[in-house]
Amino acid sequence: MGEKKSYQHWRKEQGRDEIAWLYLDRAESKTNILCRAVIEELDELLEELEYDKPAGVVITSAKSSGFIAGADIGEFTTLKDQDDGFALVRRAQGVFDRLEALHCPTVALIQGFCLGGGMELALACRYRIAIDDPKTKLGLPEVKLGIHPGFGGTVRLPPLIGAPAAMDLMLTGRSLSAKAAAKVGVVDHAVPERHKLSAATQLLQQQPTPQKVKGWKAWVSYGLLRPLLAGMMRRKLAKKARQEHYPAPYAVIELWEKYASDPKVMMKEEAVSVARLVMGDTAQNLIRVFFLQERMKGLGSKSDFKAERVHVIGGGVMGGDIAAWCAMQGLQVTLQDRSHEVIGRAIGRAHGLYKKKLKHPLKIRDAMDRLRPDIEGRGIAEADLIIEAIFENVEAKQQLFKEVEAKAKPDALLATNTSSIPLEAISGVLDDPSRLIGLHFFNPVAQMQLVEVVRGAESNEALIDAGCAFTKQIGRLPLPVKSSPGFLVNRILMPYLIEAVILESEGVPAVLIDQAATKFGMPMGPIELADTVGLDICLHVAEILSQELGGEVPEKLRSMVAAGQLGRKSGEGFYKYKKGKPLKPSDTGTPPPDDLTDRMILRFVNEAMACLREGVVEDEDLLDAGIIFGTGFAPFRGGPMNYTAKCGRDQLKQRLDHLQQEHGERFTPDARW
Ligand code: NAI
Repeated sequence: MGEKKSYQHWRKEQGRDEIAWLYLDRAESKTNILCRAVIEELDELLEELEYDKPAGVVITSAKSSGFIAGADIGEFTTLKDQDDGFALVRRAQGVFDRLEALHCPTVALIQGFCLGGGMELALACRYRIAIDDPKTKLGLPEVKLGIHPGFGGTVRLPPLIGAPAAMDLMLTGRSLSAKAAAKVGVVDHAVPERHKLSAATQLLQQQPTPQKVKGWKAWVSYGLLRPLLAGMMRRKLAKKARQEHYPAPYAVIELWEKYASDPKVMMKEEAVSVARLVMGDTAQNLIRVFFLQERMKGLGSKSDFKAERVHVIGGGVMGGDIAAWCAMQGLQVTLQDRSHEVIGRAIGRAHGLYKKKLKHPLKIRDAMDRLRPDIEGRGIAEADLIIEAIFENVEAKQQLFKEVEAKAKPDALLATNTSSIPLEAISGVLDDPSRLIGLHFFNPVAQMQLVEVVRGAESNEALIDAGCAFTKQIGRLPLPVKSSPGFLVNRILMPYLIEAVILESEGVPAVLIDQAATKFGMPMGPIELADTVGLDICLHVAEILSQELGGEVPEKLRSMVAAGQLGRKSGEGFYKYKKGKPLKPSDTGTPPPDDLTDRMILRFVNEAMACLREGVVEDEDLLDAGIIFGTGFAPFRGGPMNYTAKCGRDQLKQRLDHLQQEHGERFTPDARW
């Protein structure tokens, strides 16, 4: 091997003590991801190293964003067929095998993200060091995209840390901090940044025996025990995900059960399995959802609006939690309410949230310091953004915004969290009505990723972009929607919930209705969801929507609310509750009606069609994204419009026509079909 090559994505430096340093710095990209070109260049570098014979090799990143965030997901969408997928995966496996077989010791020096393919590259090194920094995250999140590790991860991780811990990481896709990774043995050391050079050099010079699992954690991988443990894992998994919806984690268990005693065969089977999964519907839909999420994040990059101070008015369920969330995200927040008690309760809830999420006492203290009670509303004059979340009353909101406009900075963004009042009805009282936008958060704020950014007829488009930027700033996904009854999410959800209530009134047991929905892939059945949201709130939204859009509100809902049966919060709704958990009969003895699922899901899809026709949301992709992140709609189906396309539009419309004949006008297909 003669002249040295120059590389596009990698940099090789000769360090002291004959140690070669490989820096990954993927060209024209903020993050390191493993595309074909990066892997091909690594192969060429390995060839050079085989020839140069350094005493040791360190692989690390030249980017501040982290080590390697994963494989290139974009490449998964360009695969022609399973054979193509198999070839791609086998090629990467071959390069990683070559790295593992190198004559000298190798260290992966990890800071920031080390995920998916990046983690698999690190696993092919003899040693791993993680820099103890809050940004360091190690994991194999492939199942979240409907696939599993494919560059040797399923083969190398179990012998390293034992099958129970390895399976837990691969089946959940969760990531580990540097310290946690060192504790389970994924990395050899977690060290502060200042020690990274000496830690890497020491490992390469001393060459301790590489980490390998010992004791009972190793025994469970022996032939006779594997089927037993695999059975237990499957049963545990089945409680969380159905195999027909999410086949990838089941495939991980099967690979390990069948092939763990023969790494070479297992490597090949890993490739066969991942190539099959990646071309399947679940992975293709989840990959699509991943890109939709990226698109929503991109909506938050159109404006350079950045809030430092936020003032929230109304410290109830929503306002209190919005204020707490913003302070947790690093903003200075003032929280105004008419009542000291309400603010006190909101601050108490914030403390609970910070304890759970931030853990560290100093971080909790700092977040609490950023959240200040403000009965007099002094924060209004200094805020970059003012969010109103007082009770749902037009006159009260109008009155409040008049006062706010007079006190606020001229360029402060004004936002309402109303869920049903048209924006125009509130903004009409302002000197400049174009200043008001809607920021519609969902309950519970700390869990729901979506925020609808509501555009009134007069809203200034640049301020809608600013609202999206703010949403992104606080780690949420923005969805621009038109001001119209129920906006997007509540409007589409409501007919589905109402249909479930009608079914229940007809005598179909609640538990069967919920089972049909979860079998379809909903995270929670509609009856339990209605109980959880509160039947009074459901009734209120249903009444507003029926006034504006027509349709009946089921009598049963009214009578239950009148009788004080409000759902989980009152201890009884459609279900009775014990310690906050619904008591569900396991066997109802009644077979469900054949059209049960169709009746619920097709009302959902039909309303989605109506929203598209009315331009409530810009296009089908954004509708799917909003519905997945706003309602949890079966992500593996890629959203209601993707589901419609996959089933065939004509076929679904025919089913709606049929339901209309059977059950009446509420199933009339929308004109957009
Ligand atoms: P809430 O009743 O829990 O809280 C409202 C708070 O506003 C009360 O603490 C009240 O003291 C305070 N308030 C009323 N007038 C005020 C004034 N002039 N100045 C200062 N404080 C005042 O109500 P919630 O549920 O938090 O709803 C607030 C807004 O958020 C409503 O517009 C609602 O439609 C909307 N929303 C509610 C959701 C929910 O699930 N509860 C979801 C999304 C939006």
